[in-house]
Amino acid sequence: MKQVVIVDNLVYAYTNSEPVLKEISFTLNAGEKVALMGATGSGKSTLLENLIGLKKPGSGKIWINGLLLEPKNLPEIRRQVGFAFQDANDQLFMPTILEDIMFGPLNYGVPKAEATDKARELLASFGLEAYANRSVHELSGGQKRLAAIAAILALEPDILILDEPTNGLDPAWRRNLAKVLLTLPVQVMLIASHDLHWLGRVTQRALVLSGGRIHLDKDTQSLLQEPETLDKLGLPLDW
Ligand SMILES: Nc1ncnc2c1ncn2[C@@H]1O[C@H](COP(=O)(O)OP(=O)(O)OP(=O)(O)O)[C@@H](O)[C@H]1O
Ligand SMILES: [Mg+2]
Repeated sequence: MKQVVIVDNLVYAYTNSEPVLKEISFTLNAGEKVALMGATGSGKSTLLENLIGLKKPGSGKIWINGLLLEPKNLPEIRRQVGFAFQDANDQLFMPTILEDIMFGPLNYGVPKAEATDKARELLASFGLEAYANRSVHELSGGQKRLAAIAAILALEPDILILDEPTNGLDPAWRRNLAKVLLTLPVQVMLIASHDLHWLGRVTQRALVLSGGRIHLDKDTQSLLQEPETLDKLGLPLDW
């Protein structure tokens, strides 16, 4: 089985504090859709930002499709990995969301007409065609989230990393997003979320962060059958 993401003994600390991530090791294989679970503040976003080189580990190594994560490989790694931030405002910055979605492909040399068609198609698949000429600041929270995901998908990434993709989405859009994600031809998906039932529909494997470590690594459905385990990890299914 092809190993797409390898994380080996990753340690990360914000300045002057105890490490948030302590000796994190795991491998993601081709074909896997993986949930990243963990209580608020457990380090999910920190881990994802390390994976795409936005944060530099104190120690440890990360490989993406055989490329060591280091400055000289970053452009190639960023070409392969699509990352949607927890806060969509960090990602969309053009005058209109149409331009936001075209931005990446244009940057990689896709002709303008093709980039426009693709962007309009993506906007339509997320129900945003009427908002193409609005700026991100004129969208609702859920609409921002969908626009940010559309902008990532426009780049046709091999590896898709999403941080809390269902935040602010109503049940119908959570279902639609699950459908879109399930049909994408990506090698690996890693999704941090508190939306446990949704993760159960989209992912097969779950990594649970607790105490700075991968506390559990098991199939998502089995984990969802263990409400007591989840409760102890600060992830109650029902309350
Ligand atoms: N810039 C920062 N400086 C110092 N500490 C930080 C910084 N950003 C995050 N932290 C701390 O690091 C820990 C992990 O934060 P992180 O955002 O990775 O958690 P998370 O699991 O993504 O949480 P959530 O579920 O709320 O998104 C938290 O205790 C947080 O307070
Ligand atoms: Mg987070």
